[in-house]
Amino acid sequence: MLDVRDLKKTYHQGEVPVHALRGVSFRLEPGEFLAVSGPSGSGKSTILNLIGGLDDPTDGDILIDGRSIVTLDDAERTRMRRSRIGFIFQFFNLLPTMTAIENVTLPLLLGGTARKSADQRATEILERVGLGHRLHHRPTELSGGEQQRVAIARALAFDPVLILADEPTGNLDTKSGTQVMEMISALARDFGKAVLLVTHDPRSISYAGRVINIVDGLVEAA
Ligand SMILES: Nc1ncnc2c1ncn2[C@@H]1O[C@H](COP(=O)(O)OP(=O)(O)OP(=O)(O)O)[C@@H](O)[C@H]1O
Ligand SMILES: [Mg+2]
Repeated sequence: MLDVRDLKKTYHQGEVPVHALRGVSFRLEPGEFLAVSGPSGSGKSTILNLIGGLDDPTDGDILIDGRSIVTLDDAERTRMRRSRIGFIFQFFNLLPTMTAIENVTLPLLLGGTARKSADQRATEILERVGLGHRLHHRPTELSGGEQQRVAIARALAFDPVLILADEPTGNLDTKSGTQVMEMISALARDFGKAVLLVTHDPRSISYAGRVINIVDGLVEAA
């Protein structure tokens, strides 16, 4: 499903180039939950940003269902990202002036879904993550765990095949973190999503079926 081949990324900011990734390869199948671990600055977020099409690799290839996303033009990449990939971030990245349901409908409306079906779909997913009673709350009126569940609902809006999560429990207490991790692992186990989780939290790692360790921009030999 996801095939990452010899991925390299060098940042040229300041005097000295930073070789953030120096040749990372791995594969991920539907229903599989892979954790990417490793020390701070080792290149974990860079991997997610490249897979998510937020940035271009210096070298290497990323294939989703056999199709390279590296060579797509901007419009195609935006379409692909919106429909096939769901993102979950450490800081939730919800729009503060919008309610829970508005945050979830926004990508649908941007993608051309009609208002009525977008509202229906958003309500259904928010109910599924246990927030049917919080549809019209803004992020400041929600707990951290609830905000992250809105973000999970938003990531599921288009029923993506691939879920990318970067330290999703980084800002949560243990109880909310557990709830969020159970929800994320259910996406792989019960809904057949391919899940790629970046974290250095051992508790989160324990939910994954497989772990790779990134050190200095390379996959550490198991
Ligand atoms: N936009 C950028 N411009 C220049 N250097 C960058 C940029 N983004 C990341 N880097 C550098 O690339 C390296 C890898 O960064 P990355 O964010 O992938 O690390 P990480 O493993 O996610 O770390 P953390 O666990 O702290 O989140 C770091 O040395 C970082 O300083
Ligand atoms: Mg990071």
